[in-house]
Amino acid sequence: MLTSTVLFALIAAVSARQCHDVIIPVSLTAQNLVLDIQAPLTKIDVSNLILNLAQQGRIYTEVVAKGMANITGDYQLGGTYCEPDAGPGRELQILTHGLGFDRTYWDIAANNYNYSYVAQAVDQSGYSTFAWDRLGVGASSKGDPVKEIQVFLEIAALKELTTLFRAGQIEGVSCPATKIIHVGHSFGSVISYGLTNMYPELSDAIVLTGFSQTNAFMGGFALANNFIPITNVPTLAAKYPPGYIATESDVGVQLSFFASGDFDPALLELAYQTGQPATPGELLSIGAPAAGPSAFKGRVLIITGEHDIPFCGGNCFATESVNASLHSLLDISKPMFPKASVFNTSVVPGAGHGLNYQYSHTFTYNTILNFLSE
Ligand SMILES: *[C@@H]1O[C@H](CO)[C@@H](O)[C@H](O)[C@H]1NC(C)=O
Ligand SMILES: *[C@@H]1O[C@H](CO)[C@@H](O)[C@H](O)[C@H]1NC(C)=O
Ligand SMILES: *[C@@H]1O[C@H](CO)[C@@H](O)[C@H](O)[C@H]1NC(C)=O
Ligand SMILES: *[C@@H]1O[C@H](CO)[C@@H](O)[C@H](O)[C@H]1NC(C)=O
Repeated sequence: MLTSTVLFALIAAVSARQCHDVIIPVSLTAQNLVLDIQAPLTKIDVSNLILNLAQQGRIYTEVVAKGMANITGDYQLGGTYCEPDAGPGRELQILTHGLGFDRTYWDIAANNYNYSYVAQAVDQSGYSTFAWDRLGVGASSKGDPVKEIQVFLEIAALKELTTLFRAGQIEGVSCPATKIIHVGHSFGSVISYGLTNMYPELSDAIVLTGFSQTNAFMGGFALANNFIPITNVPTLAAKYPPGYIATESDVGVQLSFFASGDFDPALLELAYQTGQPATPGELLSIGAPAAGPSAFKGRVLIITGEHDIPFCGGNCFATESVNASLHSLLDISKPMFPKASVFNTSVVPGAGHGLNYQYSHTFTYNTILNFLSE
């Protein structure tokens, strides 16, 4: 039973901001990869896919991609809009989560919202936020896990959301957002990056968390996740079509997202219990948007955990295999943003890939919000 003190603290924490859930209908079109694979339906199929993805010396996508095809459809996007008690913030942050999570990654309720990025951004820094479930996840529409739910269609979804917010056409949001910041985590950073590569004028600033532009370590991440078919996960099987894949255990979540010494075991368990699946189409398209220098003119911050597995291979400062004169692997991206008004990188000391769930979230959030306030 909650004591009245705890109850009061909970009410105090949530009443400092106004949030509501919205469902946004959208029509989307994108050019997706034509992938010559079957949706993996058994544990052996899934492991075969992962072994193919993890094989060094080749990019599996190049083996199975047979050109591009247009995908068009009507979808629903689910998200949560929050603003300060006093009304809409001057700037809106659109928050895009990564693989294995949903929108709650940004607003973790545990520990009296201590880990919530939304709480800090809205209550203390005065932003409005919109955390959405990526297309294919949670309250947003699901789709074919090979043909349809790929990075390109998810970029199209973020483009549509951004355009609707700019026009003031989102239900329950009282005015158009004149300044929009895109904050992503991991696959959500790839999408935010892709958005500003394709439509540089749609964003005023991007914060790419849990991100770098080397694909050398993605195989380790794919292996570490211990993926199994969605049909083998009772809590998720009813919500997703066959062909989606999910992490089998909290061991997979720790290996992929948590660095030694930087987390409370209860938060690892929460990340596992609230975990969401990924699609083969996502794993095979993740590298695609990050090609070629961007025309984006806004501010750019890349912030990643020192011991991030997928984007740093466990050590962001070990740059020798790429370019020994780089401060960290995050700085690979500097030449990719020749027009950015500010480009900065930050390595979070001691952190793993799942930044918001670790003790170091305080460093992460302060760095992001200080960068944005400059
Ligand atoms: C996709 O649609 C666009 C716009 O209608 C068209 O220009 C393009 O050729 C199409 N691409 C493919 C691969 O069909
Ligand atoms: C290595 O990084 C430095 C910047 O720190 C850059 O000037 C140089 O061109 C890079 N070398 C290569 C081979 O990319
Ligand atoms: C970049 O980050 C460093 C370390 O946080 C900080 O000292 C510096 O002022 C930042 N530079 C810019 C241009 O934001
Ligand atoms: C939140 O948790 C961190 C790490 O455990 C701690 O340092 C910080 O003081 C806590 N903040 C609040 C407001 O409870």
